[in-house]
Amino acid sequence: MPYTISFLLASCMILLVQCQSDKCSIGMDSTLEDVKWKTLHSNCTQEVKDQIKMEYSAAMTYLSLGLYFSSDLINRPGFAKFFFESASEERQHAIKLIEYLSMRGESVTDIAELVKVNPETMHYNNPATKELDGKGALKLALEKEVSVTTNILKVMRACEAEKAEEEARLSNDYHLVDWLTADFLEEQYKGQRDIAGKLSTLLKMGSSNYHLGEFLFDKKMLSNEA
Ligand SMILES: [Fe+2]
Repeated sequence: MPYTISFLLASCMILLVQCQSDKCSIGMDSTLEDVKWKTLHSNCTQEVKDQIKMEYSAAMTYLSLGLYFSSDLINRPGFAKFFFESASEERQHAIKLIEYLSMRGESVTDIAELVKVNPETMHYNNPATKELDGKGALKLALEKEVSVTTNILKVMRACEAEKAEEEARLSNDYHLVDWLTADFLEEQYKGQRDIAGKLSTLLKMGSSNYHLGEFLFDKKMLSNEA
């Protein structure tokens, strides 16, 4: 037995010496900096962070609209439900993007900066102004979604940059672009179609008496029939 222990200790010493001569950092000196595993280009990371800001901005706009329609002065519970749910979805999109960056080794430490939202995007919180009816709010949401979709395409272009050959090679991030195409764009286009369909139905229902049409449409929104 003493011979076995001595043999094991000697083997470990040899392994350590070999590791030191090859700059191997197994053991107490272990460090990840020696291993180049983070391949997301800095341009690409910045574009993803801008997209996170947009998702939070959309979330706050929808939260603001949800509050507006749920007030006693406006009282459209169907619209309120739709916008509160939309706000949650946008927040989830932002979290998915943060998780993606984390998976690629890009820790998000500037979260306060990312969630900072322009107050203009959430000023629909004063029901007394009655500045929006249902169709105005749906048009606003459709425009918001189109701008979010446009920005996703911008992220994809930045991550497939047509620059100098070497830089382009570094920037072509096939995985991120594929993930954005499959997960995000699919949901964006479906979301845009959903809002456009709702708007179309609302306009038809309110073609002769808009207020009555909006009241009935709101009931359909509440029961997920619109
Ligand atoms: Fe989104």
